[in-house]
Amino acid sequence: MRSTRTNLLLACVLLCSVSLLYLGMSGGGCPPKSHRYRWMELNLHSGNQNLSLTEQIPEDTPIIFIGGFPRSGTTLMRVMLDAHNAVRCGEETQVIPRLLTMRASWSKSAKERIRLDEAGVTDQVLDSAVRAFLLEVIIGHGEPAPRLCNKDPFSLKSLSYLARIFPKAKFVLMLRDGRATVHSMISRKVTISGFDLTSYRDCLTKWNSAVETMFSQCQAAGEVRCMAIRYEQLVLHQELEMRKLLNFLELQWDPSVLHHEELIGKAGGVSLSKVERSTDQVMKPVNTEALSKWVGHVPSDVINDMAEIAPMLARLGYDPHANPPDYTKAESTVYPFNTSQGAKAADTLHQS
Ligand code: A3P
Repeated sequence: MRSTRTNLLLACVLLCSVSLLYLGMSGGGCPPKSHRYRWMELNLHSGNQNLSLTEQIPEDTPIIFIGGFPRSGTTLMRVMLDAHNAVRCGEETQVIPRLLTMRASWSKSAKERIRLDEAGVTDQVLDSAVRAFLLEVIIGHGEPAPRLCNKDPFSLKSLSYLARIFPKAKFVLMLRDGRATVHSMISRKVTISGFDLTSYRDCLTKWNSAVETMFSQCQAAGEVRCMAIRYEQLVLHQELEMRKLLNFLELQWDPSVLHHEELIGKAGGVSLSKVERSTDQVMKPVNTEALSKWVGHVPSDVINDMAEIAPMLARLGYDPHANPPDYTKAESTVYPFNTSQGAKAADTLHQS
């Protein structure tokens, strides 16, 4: 009796050992390496998944944040950068701007601030939690690359905050003629909370306010940290604008950025989301089709009041009285920081 039991036990042990050996050999026991693990191997020459990100990744990781008002060419900008051999931006994460809005709300109310301080949840604790969350999402949602980038249009409403928690980050603010942006939103029914898609006047007023918030933070960050790029200039003068941008980002010139469409779906190239609104458009090479599509669609009472409804148009260099303005006339009015960056890029372009 006892020997039968011993034999049964031995048989069980043997069966378990063989199963474990098989699982080990077939790799069934090892989960595939995560994007985060591979990023650490590539950039930090270590891949200890048990250490927290903040222990492994310095806060001065030079992330690139791309943003701007939706429909301003933000996706085009990120796919052009994705085509660069050292950069990965990837799809919109959606959660990053939401967390940034929440973080801003925690500091707004004095009562809430006191309650958090009393609980030891200081600004420092919150900032390091937000930084870790952002890094996890940015690193973990796509392929590893030497230079990581994130594009979520409204993240740049928190540009100053991001500049503080990521002291080496750089910002690319996409700007576009507000009349074109709003026409694109209305005609394509792109909903943004608080915007009345039945009214050009309402949308232009709110476009003005959102762009002013982002633009003034870009100016405050200064030309070393933030670069504003006009969509019209990008599609009209791709190479010059991209040379300017890569200089600013301290990246080598890579001609692939001018042919992003050839790298769609390729390893290390451009990954697209099936559900983002601009996917069908960014599959095409850079083109100038969308420049003046808005002309003839804005109601005449709104056209007459344009300078008052959207004063940011003139500040960004768009003539509010011209329908359409001559977009080929570069930088006619006040435009920040383009002098040194523009001159450097033009020099490189002429020398090459
Ligand atoms: P329209 O809707 O006016 O056509 P975003 O990605 O920030 O939402 O911006 C969308 C705008 O970027 C679209 O404007 C679209 O035309 C433009 N865009 C996307 N891909 C483009 C390309 N390959 N060349 C030129 N413009 C492009």
